[in-house]
Amino acid sequence: MRGLFVTGTDTAVGKTILSAALLAAMVSEGEAVRAHKPVVTGLDEPSGKWPPDHELLATVAGMTPREVAPLRYGPAVSPHLAAQLAGEHIHTARLLAAARAAGSNGTLIVVEGVGGLLTPFAESYAVRDLAATLGLPVLIAARPGLGTINHTLLTLEAARVAELDVRAVVLTPWPAKPSVLERSNRDTIARVGEIEVECLERVRSPAAKDLAGAGATLPWRRWCCSGNFIPSEPAC
Ligand SMILES: Nc1ncnc2c1ncn2[C@@H]1O[C@H](COP(=O)(O)OP(=O)(O)O)[C@@H](O)[C@H]1O
Ligand SMILES: [Mg+2]
Repeated sequence: MRGLFVTGTDTAVGKTILSAALLAAMVSEGEAVRAHKPVVTGLDEPSGKWPPDHELLATVAGMTPREVAPLRYGPAVSPHLAAQLAGEHIHTARLLAAARAAGSNGTLIVVEGVGGLLTPFAESYAVRDLAATLGLPVLIAARPGLGTINHTLLTLEAARVAELDVRAVVLTPWPAKPSVLERSNRDTIARVGEIEVECLERVRSPAAKDLAGAGATLPWRRWCCSGNFIPSEPAC
């Protein structure tokens, strides 16, 4: 399996926009791609400027939303509860099989997690377990502002305990004129977390060209395809 697993410090931190930007940049460089969202919840919520995760990812990857997300639920709750409310249970073997099938044809796959690393699919199976089994390099989407140092370092610690191959933290959306706090957060996470920190600029619209332009500023090829690397200076 070649590709990336995108997790985040929380829900609504930019995982989908980061995943879509990466996919759009890969497509614009001629790569064949697949997107995978193991479970999507919250489809009952009205969508605003940004379409639901599986729709946005499907558009950029040239797939149908159902191909991207095999399990879809209405309530905006954790996957384990969404399934329970639907009278279902998420079978971890099926979850794994769907993710493996999505990444089996040699294309680059971007898997977007759900919530954060400890978000449960089932009572004793979390996003982190899926990421560990798939073994893809991991990116952590995080907010640039107040609170992000704690959330990001907690996520890094949880990832490292499970020996996930975390390649970078991506701060998103990174403002055109970052404040002292935002620049300090970026440097502090890099130093204390001993991790590469990159920044994703604000993407103007869900259009593929806007996503690709932002995604192209990220070193996705190195993340997908080579070993770990910690730059001495932040790239943004
Ligand atoms: N790079 C970005 N450009 C534009 N908006 C962003 C960006 N990163 C995060 N956002 C904002 O954060 C919200 C949540 O992003 P999303 O990718 O849906 O998060 P998640 O997938 O983690 O739930 C978006 O609706 C958008 O308002
Ligand atoms: Mg999302």
